[in-house]
Amino acid sequence: MGKAASDDIEIQFDGKKCIHARKCVLGLPDVFDPSAGRQWMFPENASAEEIVRVVEACPSGALTYELKSADAKEAAPKVNTARLWENGPVEYHGELEIDGEEPRLRAVLCRCGKSKNKPFCDNAHLKADFVATGDIATKEDAEALEVRDGPLAIKPIKDGPLMVSGNLEIVAGSGRRVATGKRFAMCRCGASKNKPFCDGSHKDIGFEAD
Ligand code: FES
Repeated sequence: MGKAASDDIEIQFDGKKCIHARKCVLGLPDVFDPSAGRQWMFPENASAEEIVRVVEACPSGALTYELKSADAKEAAPKVNTARLWENGPVEYHGELEIDGEEPRLRAVLCRCGKSKNKPFCDNAHLKADFVATGDIATKEDAEALEVRDGPLAIKPIKDGPLMVSGNLEIVAGSGRRVATGKRFAMCRCGASKNKPFCDGSHKDIGFEAD
């Protein structure tokens, strides 16, 4: 875990979770500068407010922060979402309880089946030429849930899908709501013909994952 601190804020970076979405380097290039070498975060170059805004936009949750002078910390979203990336992973935002992991608010999880850091994405879909739309048709019953936040439990089933339990909106890459519900089996083998949902194809391809 890399860290850098100013008088107001400490930024933490978990490189294993980073998938180079580049929200940080584009949002605050004077603070996040990978060309600088091993020490690449410079929180003294922006206000704590600006850094909070950019860190909370990091989809993988590789970046987190701690404010020094306030108790305020990152709040869970009002609406839990699973956003489908075109030809890529699924971005989850909510009070995430991923089996075996520390609680977190942001995560990008593999759905091509090739990541070596499952259930997290490690960009293996790029080499695998994974094809999956981020723009599926809206389900007929995709109405807003009465309660839209709260804990979201994500449990990888051995050699099978991710079981996601809790109030959830599945959204297209554009943000369009495509499905809502409280329990989904999400494909993570890459072979489903009904992506992003599991259709049992993991058995046909002999998918293996803890
Ligand atoms: S996990 Fe992909 S079809 Fe079930």
